Amino acid sequence: MRTLRDISALREALGEYRRRGQRIGLVPTMGNLHAGHLALVEAARRHADVVVATVFVNPLQFGAGEDLDAYPRTLADDQAKLEAAGCDLLFAPSDTTLYPRGLQSLAQVRVPGVSEGLCGGSRPGHFDGVATVVSILFNLVQPDVACFGEKDYQQLAVIRKLVADLHFPIEIVGVPIVRAEDGLALSSRNGYLDARERDTAAELQRTLVALREALEAGEPVAATLEAGLARLRAAGFEPDYLELRAADLTAVSATTREAVLLAAARLGKTRLIDNLTLTLPH
Ligand code: PAF
Repeated sequence: MRTLRDISALREALGEYRRRGQRIGLVPTMGNLHAGHLALVEAARRHADVVVATVFVNPLQFGAGEDLDAYPRTLADDQAKLEAAGCDLLFAPSDTTLYPRGLQSLAQVRVPGVSEGLCGGSRPGHFDGVATVVSILFNLVQPDVACFGEKDYQQLAVIRKLVADLHFPIEIVGVPIVRAEDGLALSSRNGYLDARERDTAAELQRTLVALREALEAGEPVAATLEAGLARLRAAGFEPDYLELRAADLTAVSATTREAVLLAAARLGKTRLIDNLTLTLPH
């Protein structure tokens, strides 16, 4: 696996793949890779001939007071994991390579609608930062297919709309959440949890599973979500949101069948997110 840090070297390497007629799969990441990321690489291998991963901790998607400085940077480890997973090329640019003129007056991409509420509500500007860096990476790599995790359900919806609205000729593949044995969705931020918090963290998924059961049995939505919030608070979480939306993230209505439960909650200083899809009864 080659690691490239410059745009010109990246373009040259990509040119070789294209001349050989190879289909390019992209896996954008912020590094600190875990089995969830490696599932993205595996998916990309299934959908493409060559896999390009990116590691870039994107300052543009972190708000003031968020964990940009603390975010784990583990490039040597990430390189070893990507290589073992069969990644062909890693693009790991610096901030100045990707944003040579800084962030102040940077052209940005905004995806209205799906970016609002949920994580977009509690992290203003976050999805503008994601949509902008993903657009830059799409323009640089020009992949045939790109893989994103379903743990970031709203992010995946933002990216699907971005690709549709801006006519990026890229197939977007959503990859199922990879969970620890106790059900906790794998996330780079799980590393912030101390041992006690790590035990409690799985209660987030257990709560969603219990709520799904109640909702699929026809229990009333508002009371069920209230009970879920109370259960999370009792376990020691500070919930950010707990919502039921239609699968496309619009509001649920009497005719909604395919739906999704989405939650974000703080445990100590760690913000965790998770989601579970479900089918509402008639
Ligand atoms: O999901 C992530 O790791 C990031 O939001 C992404 C898509 C790599 C953009 O920085």
